[in-house]
Amino acid sequence: MVARHKKTNLLRRCYEKGCSLLGIIPRGRRGAFDVISRPSKDIPYFISANPKVNPYDKIPKSILKAHMRLISHFLTRKLEKYYFKGIEIKEDIQDYLQVKERLDFLKEQKVNMEVEPDLKGLLEINKLYEKFVSQKEIEIYPPDKPFNKDEIELFDRIIKTRRSVRCWKNEPVSREIIESIIESAIWAPSTGNMQSVRYIVIDDEKVKQQILVGGIKGAPIIVSVAVDIRVYPSASTGNKNQDAAAAIQNFLLKTHILGLGAVWISGKTVNSNEIRRLLNFHEYIENIAFVYLGWPANRPITPPRSNIKEVLCYNKYSEDIKIY
Ligand SMILES: Cc1cc2nc3c(=O)[nH]c(=O)nc-3n(C[C@H](O)[C@H](O)[C@H](O)COP(=O)(O)O)c2cc1C
Repeated sequence: MVARHKKTNLLRRCYEKGCSLLGIIPRGRRGAFDVISRPSKDIPYFISANPKVNPYDKIPKSILKAHMRLISHFLTRKLEKYYFKGIEIKEDIQDYLQVKERLDFLKEQKVNMEVEPDLKGLLEINKLYEKFVSQKEIEIYPPDKPFNKDEIELFDRIIKTRRSVRCWKNEPVSREIIESIIESAIWAPSTGNMQSVRYIVIDDEKVKQQILVGGIKGAPIIVSVAVDIRVYPSASTGNKNQDAAAAIQNFLLKTHILGLGAVWISGKTVNSNEIRRLLNFHEYIENIAFVYLGWPANRPITPPRSNIKEVLCYNKYSEDIKIY
């Protein structure tokens, strides 16, 4: 195992040479790699890519950022293990370097870190990891205070009074309001924080009229909730349906507290060829659902919910759930 301070030196030396570090290989396995240095006897060789050939050039920025968020997600998990649970973790700077390389690349592309909040966040996570590898303490914050009784009651009221609204007034909904709803949807959890969900807001009457999914007409706004499947590095990394569902739930709750009414529309035809053509979906964009929304024309009848005893088991599933 290489001492932390030596790893930091390794990092520094690599960047001083203006190279992108691809990884560290043990002595004797240099083979075809472009080995540039072995800093000292007890540090393995490190390898470098030619800095002129940038592999990130061809990757769309949104995908590059999704991958950085995934790597940062793993870095954060490691830091949590080490600082909050006291678990010794395998020191590995490769993930850190992968994020750093991409951040440097985006900086070179003149991406404004101040304007892109996720890049700023990624930079902060990387700085924390840098502190860790250089054996500096990081600040640990106490958990948030629980919400008070009134806030909890409000939360329950919001959840319980949200309804699927299927009739709307013929009144416009501003794009500003729609954007505030999507801001809330963005804060939903997603696998590896990859945030694959994309929102296509349809407020053009001609386009809306061609969306005949769910047999519901008259929505002032239709939102396609789609995913960019390129963000998932493999079929087993990520779950597009669950990512989209979490976002839709946030979306519906925000819609509700703004006094708007929305309904989640799913079904076989949401991602039909006709819909895909109409909305100009590329092959890697998949429509998961539509949300129809507008100012509600009525307050829908409340569909009843189950008694908790009908749905809850402890420790293992039991068929002994009481049916009333
Ligand atoms: C995954 C999913 C798909 C749905 N698809 C439709 C749909 O295609 N058409 C529709 O009218 N409602 C749809 N709904 C809304 C449900 O019918 C509704 O949530 C349920 O009846 C409970 O009513 P509430 O939302 O008012 O509590 C869907 C809900 C979910 C979660």
